Amino acid sequence: MSTPEELEVVVAELSWEADGVVAVGLAPLPDGPPLPAWTPGAHLTVRLRPGLERQYSLCGDPVDARYRIAVRHCPRGRGGSDYVHRFLRPGRRLRISAPRNHFDLLPAASYAFVAGGIGITPILPMVRRAEADGIPWTLAYVGRERATMAFVDRLTRLDAAESTTGPRAPRSTVWASGTAGRFDLTGHLDAHRREHGRARVYGCGPTSMMDALEELCAQRADLVFHGERFRAPGADTAPGRPFDVRCTRSGLDLHVDADRSLLDVLAAAGLPVAGSCREGLCGTCEVVVRAGDPDHRDHVGLGDRTAPRVMAACVSRALTPGLELEL
Ligand code: FES
Repeated sequence: MSTPEELEVVVAELSWEADGVVAVGLAPLPDGPPLPAWTPGAHLTVRLRPGLERQYSLCGDPVDARYRIAVRHCPRGRGGSDYVHRFLRPGRRLRISAPRNHFDLLPAASYAFVAGGIGITPILPMVRRAEADGIPWTLAYVGRERATMAFVDRLTRLDAAESTTGPRAPRSTVWASGTAGRFDLTGHLDAHRREHGRARVYGCGPTSMMDALEELCAQRADLVFHGERFRAPGADTAPGRPFDVRCTRSGLDLHVDADRSLLDVLAAAGLPVAGSCREGLCGTCEVVVRAGDPDHRDHVGLGDRTAPRVMAACVSRALTPGLELEL
């Protein structure tokens, strides 16, 4: 059976996971089919109300019948978290996308997980998976204050899970930088390498933290970085040069000015391209590239895909004067 692109769910429960962080359980409708399966690292687009939709990582357990997301309240944000905290209540129905995963947990000899603040949400299911599969793992979870850091108790319990090979050192480090000072990311990763050797490093957190992590991994041949940033690094950069687009299916020839996004131009031409985060974070707007070189500015790794070649129309642009898109 194919997975629907979009589905309706009901808010089943709310729980406070830390100061300012609410977890929302989303259940299938009473007469509806079970929710589609998902894997650690997946996210949903939640349509909160017309014109307001946000992406949230799934932070529950894939074996659960419900989806679980966690949302930090940002009163001066763009409105999504404020809406969740003020208006989502049990019984409310919501439309959501099916889970999508651009942050897959790939097989590894060991995992070094790094989470900054609410970036713990995609990492938590990954830690559970690594634990269930018996793959060595460590976690550095860094926040400003411990009271605002979600899921610390769950991680402590997970960390205390019995070892079949005798006593072992704690694997998760919870670091409140407001009181403990700057976290030593280099020391943490090097300790992981000494104990476990090669690792895939999965990080989610603020851009500055992920940039530092990516740079550290680039300097160490035994670490492979996989990151998800709160904001895409290219989303705030200068708009770049204008370019032309040929749409091979519709036969349309379009021009993208320096101050417009490809997504806006395609949508204005009536082409069927969806947009959601518009920051290169969710992959909803991917389009297939038939010719030309995209200037990838997303942060879901669409530039790494080779067949078919795709790009994020919301933030990515062109390195060549023109592109051919399968639209
Ligand atoms: S709309 Fe989310 S990556 Fe483009």
